[in-house]
Amino acid sequence: MIDNVMLDYLIAVIVVLVTVILVFLIFNFVKSKQLSKTFQDLIAENEKLKRDISEFQTKIKDIKDSSRDFEIKFEKVSKIIQGFLRISQKSYSEFFDGLLDLALSVVPEAKSGSISIIDGREWKFMAIRGNGKNPEKLKSLNLKSEWMISIPKVTVIEDIAKSNEKRVPKEYSDMIEEAVGGHIYRSIAIPLKFGNDFIGNCFLDALSDIEFSESSKIVMEEFGILASIFLTLKRLETLPHLSINNTLRVIVNFYEMKNSSTRGHSENVAYLSVKIGEKMNLSPKQIGDLYWSAIFHDIGLISIPDEITRKESALTKEELEIMKTHTFIGEKIIDPYDHLKEAAIVARSHHECFDGSGYPDGIKGLDIPLFSRIVSVADFFDTIKREGKVSSTDDAIKKIKERSGTYFDPDIVKMAIEVFPYFKR
Ligand SMILES: [Fe+2]
Ligand SMILES: [Fe+2]
Repeated sequence: MIDNVMLDYLIAVIVVLVTVILVFLIFNFVKSKQLSKTFQDLIAENEKLKRDISEFQTKIKDIKDSSRDFEIKFEKVSKIIQGFLRISQKSYSEFFDGLLDLALSVVPEAKSGSISIIDGREWKFMAIRGNGKNPEKLKSLNLKSEWMISIPKVTVIEDIAKSNEKRVPKEYSDMIEEAVGGHIYRSIAIPLKFGNDFIGNCFLDALSDIEFSESSKIVMEEFGILASIFLTLKRLETLPHLSINNTLRVIVNFYEMKNSSTRGHSENVAYLSVKIGEKMNLSPKQIGDLYWSAIFHDIGLISIPDEITRKESALTKEELEIMKTHTFIGEKIIDPYDHLKEAAIVARSHHECFDGSGYPDGIKGLDIPLFSRIVSVADFFDTIKREGKVSSTDDAIKKIKERSGTYFDPDIVKMAIEVFPYFKR
């Protein structure tokens, strides 16, 4: 009996024990599952934290870098501003040397450089820095303005000699490299402006295969803006040739704008005259003088009353005499400027005729200055076209041929009829 009781008791104990063990095992199993999940979560969290830390470190580095960049930029821009204030006191020609030295001092990659300006039809080097043979000699080259590369904003140009290949004769590119003292791998270039007009550029050159840093590009952008402002002020202050020409050009444009029949006349005459001049192989300097002479040929018209210049019916004898005075009045307007001597002559004699029947002096043949003989053909062509006296370019050329030897120099007519058919304005 006792044995049976003992056995039941033993079984009960075993069942309890097994149950406890099972519960313990199940509990542990669940717990370990939870732990494993928690552990995985922890690993994931840890990874995320590592990523966050790394991102944070990168951000700190970026902030440090940009603040360093800002510091460098700020330092350079203040250096530029101080430099500008210093060089603005210098004469017009020394101003360009100062400008170039300043640019080179803030772009460490550049070892040479130049500043070029467009003067009428010419491209002039105003400042050169380099280690080659006599860099200053570039200033005396006769370069055409259309050879100059025109850039709207800061630009890095690879191998300028190569990119100039189709524009600039090779001997000039070679001379430039010789003057700066080596092959120009790349250049950082900025446009120089007078008001809104492109008037030249500043090139800084790398003479080894080195890239320009972002900081150099940004600094040069600021430099270009400031250089243009200071250059504009400098030119207005000193009234050099170009300012005089541009001021006079404004007067011509203003006069032409008032009268729809003359709008664009001087620009057209200048374009056609230059085409004849190029056909005659005139030098770049002569082409420049011819261009400005043609621009100003009718400047004396500003003194003629509007009732006469705008009159649609034929002029009376007295009115015609008044009209003729635009020649020597034009000469008087331009005469005070030494660099416009040729233009003053053309203003006076562009209505002279080859047979001596013109005005105001009645001179004839080769006594009429060359530029006046050229401008008079261009003037006639543009005038009869805009006044509707001919129905086509062929007609206009026919009329010019009819006047060869009487109104016009036959040699100039020969050149003109070759280039005028291409005039599409
Ligand atoms: Fe005229
Ligand atoms: Fe004219």
